[in-house]
Amino acid sequence: MRLRARENGPWVVEVPPGARVFWRGEEVKLAKPGLALCRCGWSGDKPFCDGSHKEAGFVAPGGVLELVEGIDFGKGRQDEGAR
Ligand code: FES
Repeated sequence: MRLRARENGPWVVEVPPGARVFWRGEEVKLAKPGLALCRCGWSGDKPFCDGSHKEAGFVAPGGVLELVEGIDFGKGRQDEGAR
């Protein structure tokens, strides 16, 4: 799993093709292959980025956080969908 921090912007989770995303038991329809999560605190649609970081003047470095082993994301995804 890779989380990419956009410079001066959100965390972006790379979502594999065909993967389904759920938030509070509801499926999230993605307009893009990546899921942008707010890290500036100004989004009106948390945990998702709504672009407010630009108006807020959020400044932070970009980078990549990569989780390589030891986490079973598949089980959690099934549990979320069952709610
Ligand atoms: S990072 Fe985009 S609204 Fe917070």
